[in-house]
Amino acid sequence: MDLLNKIKENAVRLQNHIVLPEGSEIRTLKATDQILKDKIARVTLLGNKEVIESIAAREGLSIAGAAIVDPATDVNRSKYAEMMVELRKSKGLTLEQALQLLNDPLYFGVMMIKAGDADGEVAGAINATGDVLRPAFQFVKTLPGVSVVSGLFFMIFQDKSIGDKGMLVFADCAVMPDPNSAQLAEIAVTTAASAKAIANIEPRVAMLSFSTKGSAQHDLVTKVADATRMAAAMNPDLLIDGEMQLDAALVPEVGQLKSPGSKVAGRANVLVFPGLEAGNIGYKLVQRLAGAEAIGPVLQGMAAPINDLSRGCSVSDIVNMVAITANQAGEK
Ligand code: ACO
Repeated sequence: MDLLNKIKENAVRLQNHIVLPEGSEIRTLKATDQILKDKIARVTLLGNKEVIESIAAREGLSIAGAAIVDPATDVNRSKYAEMMVELRKSKGLTLEQALQLLNDPLYFGVMMIKAGDADGEVAGAINATGDVLRPAFQFVKTLPGVSVVSGLFFMIFQDKSIGDKGMLVFADCAVMPDPNSAQLAEIAVTTAASAKAIANIEPRVAMLSFSTKGSAQHDLVTKVADATRMAAAMNPDLLIDGEMQLDAALVPEVGQLKSPGSKVAGRANVLVFPGLEAGNIGYKLVQRLAGAEAIGPVLQGMAAPINDLSRGCSVSDIVNMVAITANQAGEK
């Protein structure tokens, strides 16, 4: 069974509750119809009930199984606003400002999760990445011991000899524009853990650079070499090596030539990019030119699963992301 089918099957078993803040968006409604038919998750749509129901009726969609909550009038507004004031008291957030923020479904959705009224959130079909992430960073925050949220992609290839039976994991391709070495180390360790938890692979992590083991000298190379050492110290059992070039990471002969004896070089299945420019451009190159299917970005390091869609997403992208989010939420 392929990765997505396994993820969907597990989501059906888990029956987690996912909030979709863009409740009147047409692809989101079509996805909701599908998610409910396939029993992938319990769903709450945010928005005006009449508007949402009339769009669904016009499109012939069956969304009766979803809860619809209007952030403008919901009974939980004052409870959530008080929580927000408490969580942001160091920033001086007032009750009035919190109530204003709650009119934005992206803040309301995040507060549902924070209050334990939902297990995860998927948004971004009509909102930019930063607007989806900011409320999550401010109120849900990161997991204990984690300071950096990052985004990974599962890259799925027709050629099953690539990576792990045709799959490579790429990170960070979505969030952190310019990580320092400590942040990069954290991204590596978190990505390895996510690859194992979600895709059940034994991670072999390559820390990518334009240099392999000192072949070039530059601050950017030192950053990756330092990050590699820090990540190994954070998780001594992790198979991780770097800095290394992409060919040394993936091609066995090049790996052994440039990094002899490495347990990762030539057989990496997790690629950690040195910064977001490389990671974001890299995954899109592989997707567009090599024809790989890119599943993600799956956000990791957040205290609860909140995932961002591309504004060009399809209905099935939303269904898949809800299934992934439900998996990240785990057993309840
Ligand atoms: N992890 C955890 N917390 C973070 C992170 C992070 N990676 N980045 C920022 N924060 C926190 C900050 O600590 C701050 O918390 P505080 O308010 O409690 O002090 C809060 O988030 C806001 O921080 P700012 O630095 O003001 O964040 P800003 O809103 O300017 O930027 C953002 C954050 C939006 C994620 C920014 O880094 C960004 O735009 N990243 C790129 C996103 C993107 O466009 N990706 C490419 C598209 S996605 C794709 O193609 C798949």
